Amino acid sequence: MAKNCLCLTGKTIKQDVDILNRYRKYADLAELRVDCLDSDERLYIRRFPELAGVPVILTVRRDVDGGYFTSGEGARLKLLANGLAYANADSRFNFAYVDIEEDFNAPSLEEAARTFGTRIIRSCHDLKGIIDDISAKIKSMKRAGDEIIKIAVSVKSTHDVLKVFRASDTSIKQDKILVCMGHYGIYSRILAEKFDSFLTYSSTLSENVTPGAPGQMDVRELSELYHFKKITKDTKIYGVIGNPLKSSVSPWFFNTIFDLENADCVYVPFPVTDINDFMDLAKGLNIQGISITVPYKETVLPYIDEKSEIAQSIGACNTMYRKGDLWYGDNTDYAGFITSLLNFLDRKDLKRQKITIIGAGGVSRAVAAEVFKMRGKALILNRTVHKAASIASRYNFRWGGLDNQGIDLMAKYNDIIIQTTSVGMEGYDEGDPLDTYEFSGKEKVMDLIYTPAQTPFLKRAEAAGCKTLNGYDMVIRQASLQYANFFDREIPKTHLSQIISLGASVWDKIASD
Ligand code: ATR
Repeated sequence: MAKNCLCLTGKTIKQDVDILNRYRKYADLAELRVDCLDSDERLYIRRFPELAGVPVILTVRRDVDGGYFTSGEGARLKLLANGLAYANADSRFNFAYVDIEEDFNAPSLEEAARTFGTRIIRSCHDLKGIIDDISAKIKSMKRAGDEIIKIAVSVKSTHDVLKVFRASDTSIKQDKILVCMGHYGIYSRILAEKFDSFLTYSSTLSENVTPGAPGQMDVRELSELYHFKKITKDTKIYGVIGNPLKSSVSPWFFNTIFDLENADCVYVPFPVTDINDFMDLAKGLNIQGISITVPYKETVLPYIDEKSEIAQSIGACNTMYRKGDLWYGDNTDYAGFITSLLNFLDRKDLKRQKITIIGAGGVSRAVAAEVFKMRGKALILNRTVHKAASIASRYNFRWGGLDNQGIDLMAKYNDIIIQTTSVGMEGYDEGDPLDTYEFSGKEKVMDLIYTPAQTPFLKRAEAAGCKTLNGYDMVIRQASLQYANFFDREIPKTHLSQIISLGASVWDKIASD
């Protein structure tokens, strides 16, 4: 099974040992990145395996391969030789692995490593892109004994990841490490076992140490969120696709449920550049269910064999799932939103309710359709007024801009306010889309954002005495409906209430750690 290798990039041996001790329970082995150590600390690397107490990879990564070592090959050879010298009869006191680049020529060092049971990881790094024929490269790099071949490439697209996946052919009986560096390869690190990779490299993002390589995942997140050690070749894969993939509660939601149910399933984020390539990957990885976010809700339609009535009528899917060889599509955005809103208002419909909808993007379009269906009357306000007009005119709603004129119109549409823009979302615009509007305290205010749990807009509404709701309840409902699609049954009520009681604050904590 793929191992979780904690990449240690501290400046001192003590710092690395301290970090390892803090995260020991997650790591199967560690990589000592000697190139990150201060130069006087490099004198003491020989003691590291004994201090570590887990199998350790000895690595002195050159700058040309993405590391920090710049002192030349002679000095590097000396460091590696020092690390492997005075081999102990008890192998726990020796480095378990040594990483040697394919162009590094030191037969006597390799001989010494082999003699004392240190396995050689023969590595090749492409920092600029992706090797053309990875399978051929693996074959050509193979030398004597039980070496592990490591190929680390820089992926810039789903197509690149697909190429790596195709090279992971499990029929080749060869221990190998395949690393897709960069944002678009993030899921290949979680799914290392599916990519037939001997290990995945992880790091400690909260420790303020030098990054090991682009896209390495946090060792704790890998274990606690994705349950990395439980992923086997048989584990069923689910996930969310999008680009850019906004921080999403769904990996936490699904993986927590899977854990509660002891289900052999994992849910991972798939930042996707091309839907066609992703569908090939989905086939290869035998992905069972997918949540779909911007910008693929419409472009995914041609790949879906059967759509639900709602997905058909809206012309967009946020969920697809496999039954046999067929893909089914549904849209749970709408039902998730409206059930959350009606539950918040303790109403069965929106009759006689006057509502302001802020924003006129994709989400607003869905919100307006549901408000109309539930017989509410609405005013749509948006920075770009013609977009508000385009949605509003469909339902005979009113429209305006996010300005004084628009705010004046709100006087007659202030029973309920629904905020649908990304303003206030963590990592986006931190402002308040309607900062000159003064709440009376009587409005019921829903902001669809859930990270942070309270946007400045929602905070202001609450301070004025309004009843408020963020988007957490809505996404949980949407995800629960997706779950029902994926598994053809409802989430057990006890599990759902556990998730809801954990609440958005847990998610906030996970997102900010
Ligand atoms: P989504 O699918 O999440 O609705 P979208 O379709 O890109 O995303 O829509 C984003 C919404 O947020 C739009 O209403 C956008 O206003 P514009 O139509 O004027 O672009 C709104 N929005 C984004 N940033 C904003 C900002 N800084 N101030 C006001 N509105 C903003």
